[in-house]
Amino acid sequence: MGFTERCAEARAEIERLDDFLVVHHYDADGLCGGALTVAALEMMGKNYNRQCYRKLSPKEINEIKSAHEKNIIMVDFGAGAVEELEGIEKNIIIIDHHQGNESSILQVNPMHFGINGSYEMSGASCAYFTFGIRELAPIGIVGAVGDMQAPFIGWNHKMLEEAESAGVARHYTDLCMFGRVSRPLVPFLMYSIDPYLPGLSGNEQNIISFYEELGIELKRGDKWRRYTDLSEDERKTLSSALVALIYEKGMKHHAKHLLGEVYELLTYPENTEMRDASEFSTLLNACGRHDKPDVGVDVLLKREGAYERARNLLEMHRRMLRGGIEYAGTHVVDLGLFYFVDARGVIEDGLIGVVAGMLYGTVGTDKPILAIALDNEGKVKISTRATKELVNKGINLGKALNVSCEGIGMGGGHTIAAGATIEIEHLNTFLKRFGEEIEKQLDK
Ligand code: C5P
Ligand code: ZN
Repeated sequence: MGFTERCAEARAEIERLDDFLVVHHYDADGLCGGALTVAALEMMGKNYNRQCYRKLSPKEINEIKSAHEKNIIMVDFGAGAVEELEGIEKNIIIIDHHQGNESSILQVNPMHFGINGSYEMSGASCAYFTFGIRELAPIGIVGAVGDMQAPFIGWNHKMLEEAESAGVARHYTDLCMFGRVSRPLVPFLMYSIDPYLPGLSGNEQNIISFYEELGIELKRGDKWRRYTDLSEDERKTLSSALVALIYEKGMKHHAKHLLGEVYELLTYPENTEMRDASEFSTLLNACGRHDKPDVGVDVLLKREGAYERARNLLEMHRRMLRGGIEYAGTHVVDLGLFYFVDARGVIEDGLIGVVAGMLYGTVGTDKPILAIALDNEGKVKISTRATKELVNKGINLGKALNVSCEGIGMGGGHTIAAGATIEIEHLNTFLKRFGEEIEKQLDK
């Protein structure tokens, strides 16, 4: 059986049943996977409830166990917890792209079919293929971008092609910094954090002179111009100038964050974060990571009033991210086998993963990054990130965290990005084990 047949099997099973609880993860990809699934269930005329979780610990598994719905669909997580889920006497269908084993539970997981779930299919794209409804492809695209899978290859690319042929999305290569679609030119550069633009970020006067020198008008009539309002020539002038600036400051690593494949979602309103997959994913992270996942799902489903609420969360999220990145950049230490950021009490557990991922560029790409924060139960939340080159050399962070957590916590994820939660008194043991495991993986 191939992946496509597995999708058909899951779809047939869902078609046959009714009364679902959709349980999904809280990051942008998880919200997209959850939203796509409930949108599909609505189209199929099914009854459902939806629940978002940050993680799947015994507490959440118990809640799922005692849920009144007869059938469970798990999206963007579950693969790492099949043993625990097997004990539940309900129909369970897992739609996930994380590492884990096959079991008696019906699972749509690219990993089980030789498809790389870290690079070419996210939880939301997996949900897209499960239901096969083309008009929902934009949600799949946002999820995959949120899980850092752009530029799309393989199955994500197939999803994109299907979206384009259905006229619901299009893609091109362009400047891809946050705000290209949703922000006027000055705040676009003013608040840039990925990359941070030396001399420009945070300095309004310099930004105004910068545009002046490039001959780019900030306003047309009463209207503040955005990047997407610029002419082809102006766009080229601006992106070349930004690339030059980054090189001049010796920040070569950041240059690749400037230009990239961008995905325009034609089914969402123009000039808003929702029109651009990358900005949309940031908007969703702002909801999910600040305990408002339902707002994010409602935005995806175009429910009234949701976008305005999400915008407020976004402002706070970006402010906190700026602070977090500043802190991480100045407090990161080199522990030999990996870079370490202790942000306990400084950066929220929901943000630590995003911050860790943005740290490459500040630190070298030669070793993994491990960052820690405190969660609201006083436990240590761990986020690790690597690069494709490190993964090619043998690094598998999901496995490293799995091994390091044995008996002291729960961890797992992808080769290139993984997370864990442990009790605080085991931190030293954990760090020692993690270092040993990284050494072992690089040795092989
Ligand atoms: O939490 P963080 O963003 O660092 O997680 C990175 C990746 O690892 C995510 O895809 C997440 O789903 C996964 N993860 C996991 N098990 C955990 C924690 C995170 O599979 N206990
Ligand atoms: Zn995911």
